Amino acid sequence: MNTIIVNGAEDEAFSDAARALREGKLVAFPTETVYGLGANALNPDAVKGIYEAKGRPSDNPLIVHIAEVSKLNELILEIPDTAVTLIEAFWPGPLTLVFKRSGRVPDIITAGLDTVAVRMPDSIIAQKLIREAGVPVAAPSANLSGRPSPTTYKHVIEDLSGRIEYIIDGGPCQVGVESTVLDVTTKIPIILRPGGITLEMLEKVLEKVDTDSVLEVRGDLKPRSPGMKYRHYSPKAEMILISGETDSVVEKINQLIKDSNEKGLNVGVLTSFENAHQYNADVVVKAGSVKNPNQIATGLYDSLRTFDEKNVDIIYSETFEEKGIGRAIMNRLRKASSGKIIEAK
Ligand code: TXA
Ligand code: MG
Repeated sequence: MNTIIVNGAEDEAFSDAARALREGKLVAFPTETVYGLGANALNPDAVKGIYEAKGRPSDNPLIVHIAEVSKLNELILEIPDTAVTLIEAFWPGPLTLVFKRSGRVPDIITAGLDTVAVRMPDSIIAQKLIREAGVPVAAPSANLSGRPSPTTYKHVIEDLSGRIEYIIDGGPCQVGVESTVLDVTTKIPIILRPGGITLEMLEKVLEKVDTDSVLEVRGDLKPRSPGMKYRHYSPKAEMILISGETDSVVEKINQLIKDSNEKGLNVGVLTSFENAHQYNADVVVKAGSVKNPNQIATGLYDSLRTFDEKNVDIIYSETFEEKGIGRAIMNRLRKASSGKIIEAK
């Protein structure tokens, strides 16, 4: 298949992509979080194509994207009061809400769950595409399953060129990590995936928010956000996180670099602007400034992909403060490293 690349600012080509989307083709498009791989959500065959193009396990449900709140009604059974508050505060934006689903939502989207995840992206191009297509748009991140999510159209080309009909180039994504997934079917909403709308932001408008650790406490072992159980967001090389006080972390990483180099391994380090000069590894990638976690989030996936390009054998990564967007950053780093973490003392 020949993948057509469209500049988001070119009206005619853009309309072709929107029409193709409505007619059942796959179109990758920018959102404020990451690039999405869109299909007409009301067309089960089109949605099936998403799973095939990505190599995505079929038990991992998809988010449905809309451009107007009025489109919610056909997708869900009821809008809980908490959701009304959240929609007013955060839509359009990087917040996905999980509702009880209506019969109109094809099973293939929800992987058989009785809920559906919906979000309204805050990206002009995404909104324009959904409006012009005139249908709700199912869209996971536009990467091959397991790879870091794409935050530029070039990342999408790397993973999906030849597998999908269109890629719309809308420049780099601003947020850089995916939307927060929040279950609003329970009395107290539960964060199933930390993301662009932080716990602190949610707590400003809700009385109480739970994180998905409550599910473990309750012994509710079936993951409510099935996607979270997979190895994810991963560069090709093994990745290990090093946590602790800055000085100990730097010392530990330098020791690990030395040991790995002695074994003949090509070593990558993921660090901050502040600490980068302290490492003498084969590939040192600065994710951003520790004073600006939003910047780290924006560049995170591009940093992980850089290690693939440079063919490192092992990656040692610093950890980042777990507040605000830092929770999403650390959640992704833990998945990328399959939870391998060394405490530096
Ligand atoms: O920012 C984003 O959310 C991006 C852009 C493209 O909008 N999309 C995205 O989609 O990250 P994806 O498929 O990579 O991640 C969707 C997440 C998965 O963890 C999935 O398990 C969860 O949302 N999810 C989808 N439907 C769900 C449902 N009904 N109940 C619980 N979790 C659900
Ligand atoms: Mg994804």
